[in-house]
Amino acid sequence: MNKQRILVVDDSPTIRKAIIRQLSPLDVEILTATDGLQGLDMACNRPIDLIVTDVDMPEMDGITLCKKLQADQKTNSIPIIIQSSFDTESDIEKGFTAGASAFIPKKELSASLFQTVKSLLQKSSINRSRRVMVVDDSAIIRKIVEQGLKKKGFQVIMAENGKAAMSQIGSNLPHLIISDIDMPEMDGYSFCRIVKEDPELATIPFVVMSARQEMSMVRRMLGLGADTYLFKPFNIDELAMLIEKLLSDQYRLLLMEKERLNAEQKLTLSSIASLVAALEARDAYTRGHSAEVARIASQMGALAGLEPETVTRLKISGELHDIGKIGVKDAVLLKPGKLTDEEFESIKQHPVTGANILRPIESFADIIDVVQHHHERFDGKGYPSGLKGEAIPFWARMIAVADTYNALTSDRPYRKGMPVDKALQIIREASNSQLCPDCVNLFFKCNNRWSLAGTIPATSFSLPLNDGFLLQHQQHSLLPAG
Ligand SMILES: [Fe+2]
Repeated sequence: MNKQRILVVDDSPTIRKAIIRQLSPLDVEILTATDGLQGLDMACNRPIDLIVTDVDMPEMDGITLCKKLQADQKTNSIPIIIQSSFDTESDIEKGFTAGASAFIPKKELSASLFQTVKSLLQKSSINRSRRVMVVDDSAIIRKIVEQGLKKKGFQVIMAENGKAAMSQIGSNLPHLIISDIDMPEMDGYSFCRIVKEDPELATIPFVVMSARQEMSMVRRMLGLGADTYLFKPFNIDELAMLIEKLLSDQYRLLLMEKERLNAEQKLTLSSIASLVAALEARDAYTRGHSAEVARIASQMGALAGLEPETVTRLKISGELHDIGKIGVKDAVLLKPGKLTDEEFESIKQHPVTGANILRPIESFADIIDVVQHHHERFDGKGYPSGLKGEAIPFWARMIAVADTYNALTSDRPYRKGMPVDKALQIIREASNSQLCPDCVNLFFKCNNRWSLAGTIPATSFSLPLNDGFLLQHQQHSLLPAG
């Protein structure tokens, strides 16, 4: 991700240096300009996330700079902090009227600048990631609200009535809705009711815009679940502040919920890690297998363009994929000789057992199918469900490739791990039959990177339990199936 960029405008090199020093703990890029004119030119020609400006400067003063930035659509969403030694009430008022987001008297710079910059950057990055849906049958109101909100950095989606809003909402989920009441096709009441009755949409804050004489209608809307209201005509700054407040409350709640889930997940993961360790401790040759499969699969996921959070979930799936083997008896799991059909059938239960172990844990809901289907084959000849092609979850298909590679290259008590070249050849040949061709391609792309980086641990991967048996005993398949 690109660093956020701050522009410091001040004619004093000493103040510029002091500001840079103060902001250095923030992971941001800092540019400087020596007067308002240079600052304006820089802000117009590159993305800037925040400006800190002095007032009294040659060429162009800070107040004029503020006004010019506010007047230009390209720059009017940049938050501006004015810092000045002219700090009477009227100076401060002048700064805010010109469009500044904050005013810091120069004597308070060292005490307040860092925190003010940090919170404004945070707020503007939250605003930029937030979509506000404006629903009103008046094109003029839609336009005014759109311009005002865009100026505050929000993304804006518009619709002329409830019906048009509902047709867009699925593909472009808003973080907040502002709606008129009296509209054709679908009025505000029906729109609000549908939103608040839909579990997927109900938590989106809903703001009613209405004329003051419509108080009874507003009450009815609040009864339907609307969160708050604003009387027309309203000041756009008033609306933006209301939205920021609602969104920051909601953001804080989401953050708290995320922290709670993370803590819960950490706890669950550490219990599961103990289970995996217990499982792998049954056979020294399997130690670290799940971690290696997780590592390879997550590299494939990252290369496939999955979001970092999704890659983390994929990694967890890799770590847990064989957890069901805890349900296989030692006599079968550790048997050095040929497996009977009955024994093989009991090993084939491990994906379903694993899914059953994880099923009661709510935070693993997205992983259960992956664990359950990591032994499906792309040609439909795998187990437990005989799923074919893309009916097999994508993560499970990636894990199958990583699992196979790890199994082939690992040492067993009765044989050395296969040379990497031979294992790669087998994986290539299994593309489209046992393994998903897209995932095999991803694996080879990763493999090239590892080889180039010299980090591929050629034969140090450990072997999944039973893969050795199946390599050794199953005549019908060249590849590990356990
Ligand atoms: Fe397995």
